[in-house]
Amino acid sequence: MSRPNFDGRRAGTLALTAAALGLIVAVAVPHAQQPPAGAKPAPPPAGAKPAQGAPAAPAAPAPPQRPLVPVVASTLAAKPDAYFGENVTVMATVDQTLSPLAFSVDQDKAKSTGQDVLVLAPRLNEPVELNTYVTVIGEVVKFDPADAKVKDRLTGLSPDALAKYTGKPAIVATSVINTAMNDLARRLPPKMTAEEEAFQKVMQKVGAANGAFRGIIEKSDANGAKEQAAALKAAFIATEAFFKPHGKADAIGWAQDARKSAEAIEVAAAAGKWDEVKATAGSMGKMCQTCHTAYRERYDDGSFRAKLGSPGKPGAATH
Ligand code: HEC
Repeated sequence: MSRPNFDGRRAGTLALTAAALGLIVAVAVPHAQQPPAGAKPAPPPAGAKPAQGAPAAPAAPAPPQRPLVPVVASTLAAKPDAYFGENVTVMATVDQTLSPLAFSVDQDKAKSTGQDVLVLAPRLNEPVELNTYVTVIGEVVKFDPADAKVKDRLTGLSPDALAKYTGKPAIVATSVINTAMNDLARRLPPKMTAEEEAFQKVMQKVGAANGAFRGIIEKSDANGAKEQAAALKAAFIATEAFFKPHGKADAIGWAQDARKSAEAIEVAAAAGKWDEVKATAGSMGKMCQTCHTAYRERYDDGSFRAKLGSPGKPGAATH
């Protein structure tokens, strides 16, 4: 009863999955290089564009650092003891959807093995489709509804399902990749407010102006320095205004310091003091990083947003 093209489909999916995993590894590397929370960020090398490639503040839950173990769902169901606490990657078919965050996977869609494994996602940007392949990455736990690792992923799960899977292996997923290579569990940013959109343009101008200084310093370009310093001043005034209604005194202070640096750069450039321009641009670069570490957040699609949270949040309270 198997479809004539089943093997072909499967090979295609495997290739896709391998590609998806490659992607994940590539994406995971910058995370691994991020400083631990609270660590002092290393100063950017002199003359480098300090902020553009600067690491964002680490996201709240640290990504898993243990190596991924590939396992098939039937093995996981039959011999779970070997996998509890491991980070696994499982390619299997979606057997049942159980709640907006929970579904089960089974080894083979051609025959039901009756050994489905529960998957609990942190979010699903779109629902998984029954009988399609997914690649799930996450930690294997012995399912216990009271476990802190799973507690916030159980909304909508029926008492029957809770009872059925208790004591069985479950995957606390970080990624759920479908055959279109879309990780449905990616943390995507919410829609930007008008205020955020305007501020993003401000920061893009800051990034461009800051980047331009490298060439300006090399060529001792006084006119260029004047123009870009003016752009930076205006942008940091706008930055200060952005943080003001949020009551972020430290960010307001950094924006003011950065604006003063831009002014000092303008004065030094007009006087032809290029060593001073260079030194001040370097110290301004550190202000970029300080503020980004506290208030800039990177989402899984690579975009940045301001992280304003509540006052006194860990990142915001370091200064
Ligand atoms: C007072 C805080 C603060 C300072 C100082 C600051 N930034 Fe930012 N920056 C932010 C925040 C918050 C974001 C995230 C908002 C966003 O990207 O929309 C950001 C985002 C950025 C971005 C990404 C823009 C995008 O496309 O999303 C760049 C580039 C950038 N900053 C460059 C710089 C540079 C270069 C400096 C220093 C010369 C600097 N910033 C100084 C707060 C700051």
